[in-house]
Amino acid sequence: MRAGTVMKGLCPFHQEKTPSFTVDERRGSFHCFGCGAHGNAIDFVMRAENLGFREAVERLAGEAGMPIPVESPAQRAREDRLAGLHDVLEAAADCFCESLADRRSGAEAKAYLDRRGLDAAAIERFGIGFAPAARTRLKEALAGRFPEEKLVEAGLLVRPDGGGATYDRFRGRVIFPIHDPRGRLVGFGGRIIGEGEPKYLNSPETELFQKGRLLYGYHRAAPAARRSAEVVAVEGYMDVIALHLAGVETAVAPLGTALTEQQLALLWRLAPEPILCFDGDAAGARAAARAAERALPMLKAGQSLRFATLPPGEDPDSLARSQGPAAVRAVLDAARPLGDVLLAGEMAGQPVDTPERRAGLRRRLRELAGRIDDRDTQAEYQAEFQRRCDAAFGTRPQRQAYQGGQGYPGGRAPYLRRPDGPWRGGPRPFPVPLPESVPPPVPDRWRVHESRLLLLAIRDGPTLAEVAEGAGAMACRDPALEALRRDLVAALGGERLDSRAIERHLTELGHGPTLERLRGSAARHGWASIGSETSPEEALYHWRHSQVAWQLDEIQSEIALAERDFDADPSDRLVRLAAQRAELLRYRVELELERDTLRQAAAGGL
Ligand code: UTP
Ligand code: MN
Repeated sequence: MRAGTVMKGLCPFHQEKTPSFTVDERRGSFHCFGCGAHGNAIDFVMRAENLGFREAVERLAGEAGMPIPVESPAQRAREDRLAGLHDVLEAAADCFCESLADRRSGAEAKAYLDRRGLDAAAIERFGIGFAPAARTRLKEALAGRFPEEKLVEAGLLVRPDGGGATYDRFRGRVIFPIHDPRGRLVGFGGRIIGEGEPKYLNSPETELFQKGRLLYGYHRAAPAARRSAEVVAVEGYMDVIALHLAGVETAVAPLGTALTEQQLALLWRLAPEPILCFDGDAAGARAAARAAERALPMLKAGQSLRFATLPPGEDPDSLARSQGPAAVRAVLDAARPLGDVLLAGEMAGQPVDTPERRAGLRRRLRELAGRIDDRDTQAEYQAEFQRRCDAAFGTRPQRQAYQGGQGYPGGRAPYLRRPDGPWRGGPRPFPVPLPESVPPPVPDRWRVHESRLLLLAIRDGPTLAEVAEGAGAMACRDPALEALRRDLVAALGGERLDSRAIERHLTELGHGPTLERLRGSAARHGWASIGSETSPEEALYHWRHSQVAWQLDEIQSEIALAERDFDADPSDRLVRLAAQRAELLRYRVELELERDTLRQAAAGGL
């Protein structure tokens, strides 16, 4: 909307429905009457793109086709020297590409790349080259064009410590060009073909190539990342490439080191919650916890991280190639929030079986949260950790109010199933397994599950909100059980009745025979515990465990069906089901661990 020299529109800095953002063309400034954002064109670019002052100026100057003003002669000289280095690197990159393209010298490297799934188009797209094994191939190729010293300075030639002739740094390696955030070539990574040490060799640190300030693939990922507000950090060059080829065009990687603060800042330029992808093994978990700790001081509203866990033994490259883009997507979508990773890191391998140890855990978590600079965010983390500990230790279990659930990474009871509805509950981390063959469950198993869940709902529904809600969300296939369930849910939602009163009420409504049947199955299956008193934590465990068992059986029949129909419908349904199944299996393990902790706590005398 235009009114004179002032234009009006929706504010890009806060959510709004009616326009309160104005741009004054004559004054060259913007102002939002909604959120108070205010400034000139440079401020706008800094905010909108999350750039520093100089970068914002450069971006604007670039868009307007203006040269960037240089402040001093010293600066000027530096810019010239760096421009010279760029030229050297560009010339080297051309040589590497020619060597790879050459039918004879490039044959072995070509075959290697082919084995790794990189065709000509991919090689072209990522500018991949090859440095032949000869000692001075590049040196000779560039000798006439650049002074030797320049080649050494660019990290392309090595000058032996004890003197002697310089020689090529990269020999017998596939070459990956590395660019800075503005897309200028600044160095190379070279992978040995086949086995050998070191597996990857990078350019040495130079004025241009500072590993801790660069992310491989950043300039390529930036447009897609800004568009989708998603960026994915993986470990290696090949992982970035494989993800881009699999359609995840927002992948970047550090250069063989743990993520630095500068690299985190780069990620946050692109998206508010970058996803860090780590291996599914112990080392991966440690790396994730380290990255989480490093990020802590920098957290604030709109600036966090999420963590995706790969199946054990896979990296993104191998996962994308063996199981396809859907499997990668599933892993990314299951990324966990940062708080969960910190909590898991602190709890891993450290028993919390005595009051002192539990107090120790609380203190460590308080200390971690204390490192967050932003005050509001810090307060939220403190509260969250406290809630999690309370729930996990059952410190304040009030029978009426106990909701539970917060002790579980990822939140409350997941996977409540509505009749014919989709899966509910947040995504959880899981290893994506191969869709291995699963035997179909015994027919009618569902009736056993339904019976058990209803018995638990009658016993614990009056005291545990999660159980009452869960009974409301499920559906029984057995018509008599379903009728009982509906009346039970209505009773649970009405005036407060204890479980005896509920049984009486259900009998009055004509469910007497069905109740008898339920008691019969309890006796047959040895569910004696259902008849006795338990703690709310134990009751919740039984409920969740029974739900998971039921859902696992359900999903196994779906998998059996999907396998039968696979030829007719080779969609990713099977992979998705297998992923859900793995998710459930993992959740079951978590339940067992949690229960162990509770038992230890009880034995410890709390
Ligand atoms: P990995 O050893 O996980 O290798 O190193 P990768 O990425 O899976 O490589 P491929 O699939 O075997 O080819 C991860 C990253 O660590 C750095 C590189 O950046 C690599 O991509 N690295 C690794 C080095 O810098 N030097 C090394 O010797 C090894
Ligand atoms: Mn790999």
